[in-house]
Amino acid sequence: MTFLMVSYPERVAVFREAFARSLPDVEFVSDPEQVAPEKVRYLMAWTFPEDLAERYPNLEAVFCVGAGIDHVLNAKLAPSVKLIRMIEPGLTTLMRDYVVMSVLALHRRLPAYLQLQREHKWVNLDFAWADQRRVSVLGLGELGQASLNALKPFGFQLAGWSRSPRTLEGIRCHHGPEGLKEMLAATDILICLLPLTPETRGILNADLFAQLPAGASLIQVGRGEHLDHDALLQALDSGHLEAAFVDVTVPEPLPAEHPMWSHPKVILTPHVAAHTRADSAAAATIANLRRMMAGETPVGLVDLERGY
Ligand code: NAP
Ligand code: GLV
Repeated sequence: MTFLMVSYPERVAVFREAFARSLPDVEFVSDPEQVAPEKVRYLMAWTFPEDLAERYPNLEAVFCVGAGIDHVLNAKLAPSVKLIRMIEPGLTTLMRDYVVMSVLALHRRLPAYLQLQREHKWVNLDFAWADQRRVSVLGLGELGQASLNALKPFGFQLAGWSRSPRTLEGIRCHHGPEGLKEMLAATDILICLLPLTPETRGILNADLFAQLPAGASLIQVGRGEHLDHDALLQALDSGHLEAAFVDVTVPEPLPAEHPMWSHPKVILTPHVAAHTRADSAAAATIANLRRMMAGETPVGLVDLERGY
């Protein structure tokens, strides 16, 4: 039984050591040239060859090293092959931290104060208490829920939106198109933590921004294709939106002349909100392999019909 992992040498080294310690009966290989393709039962990587099914005829499961699998969905998998995305505490913690950092920065109007500093202006801006600030998350999955839970101690009014109905303590939960409308009308800081699917592509557009109250802000940590960049810039320039954190774009990186690089109301980060931590990801992957060997469902199993 062979597990083939194609990734950075440092990450592979951590996985190799964890596999040797915890799953010595599974052969761990990291060089596709060094393994007979028909022996590969499990394959882990970030991107996958188009001819995956033909190249590895005995695959049981494909593991993505990241949380988002939108770029993998067009890989031609045989119907019996499971696609598993990364759910592991390191990645979740990083995203939680990024969201808390950016919510606090927007709540305390950091982009506006940075601009005043550039202009050498000592000005007190209007201010809201945390319990007056409405913070909402698009996506109530692994990362959306962890982010909302981390925001609870600050006392914000918290809400979230998902496809199916959810009940979460201390969070006003909305779902479906009507739920989205209702939530947007009562949101000061909106965070996008949706997967990229045909339904969510382009969701952060002019129509959505118009449904937010004047002065609202955006944190975009989903996928670049969720956001209409021009609509965001228009909403910021008109003053309807106050500021935005943008971590994901199309393309990545943005071209040098793109206005978002130097826009005073945009804080741009290079797709660094979260990434996989090798040791905790190795432990999560080994636990998943054990589940599968015991005939159980792995954590992070992707529903290919739903697209996430
Ligand atoms: P997840 O656990 O699969 O959760 C996805 C959530 O989105 C679920 O609550 C789901 O609703 C909701 N959703 C999906 N389609 C929807 C729709 N059409 N309408 C309303 N809600 C919808 O995903 P996750 O692990 O939290 O990750 C979310 C995304 O974060 C990833 O897919 C990736 O794009 C992004 N990400 C970004 C970075 C970064 O560094 N910027 C890092 C990692 C991940 P249900 O609850 O009803 O299923
Ligand atoms: C990063 O964006 C991931 O999906 O893990």
